[in-house]
Amino acid sequence: MDFFHPSGLEPLVSPEAITARIAELGRQIAADYQKLLAPDEPLLAIGILNGAFIFLADLVRVLDLPLEIDFVRLSSYQDQNISSTHVVMLKNLEMEVRGRHVLVVEDIADLGLTLAWLLDFLKAKEPKSLKLAVAVDKTERRRVSLNLDYVGFSINEGFLVGYGLDHAHKYRHLPGIYKIKAGS
Ligand code: IMP
Ligand code: MG
Repeated sequence: MDFFHPSGLEPLVSPEAITARIAELGRQIAADYQKLLAPDEPLLAIGILNGAFIFLADLVRVLDLPLEIDFVRLSSYQDQNISSTHVVMLKNLEMEVRGRHVLVVEDIADLGLTLAWLLDFLKAKEPKSLKLAVAVDKTERRRVSLNLDYVGFSINEGFLVGYGLDHAHKYRHLPGIYKIKAGS
């Protein structure tokens, strides 16, 4: 692939392929919610910061639906000693979830723990419906079962960057999806 990429990264999905896939997802999501939403009832899209900001921005702009947008910021970290993952909410929602149709938008599902944590948090608030959209589904390390309603790409190789995904805060802005090459 010949789109822009820094050395040390192997391109996996081009910006054009992402745009085409988002357009398909947008049509599918809009068709599904047109059946669920009452006339003039907005869907509530919830993006998980930081990684989801690019996917959310692209997705909402192809959704032909009344829509409201909110964000949470979650941070998850591994505890090596007890081999568990902690999720910390660094920024809470600002909007009411109770009685709303909610679509959670995330960059990637890997272990699945971050999304599982947020789903429990949101379910307790009794939304009318709750679905998940992820740009990338990485299933090989999944630790909890997750029902992903909308998946951009299933990619099961290595550590991915670009299109919102970072490595040590770098590469989020890159327009495609890339794998970090071994040894770099
Ligand atoms: P989880 O492992 O499903 O809980 O994912 C937690 C978070 O880890 C995601 O929201 C990403 O921020 C990050 N993450 C997991 N896999 C990757 C990857 O391949 N590249 C960049 N970030 C990742
Ligand atoms: Mg993330």
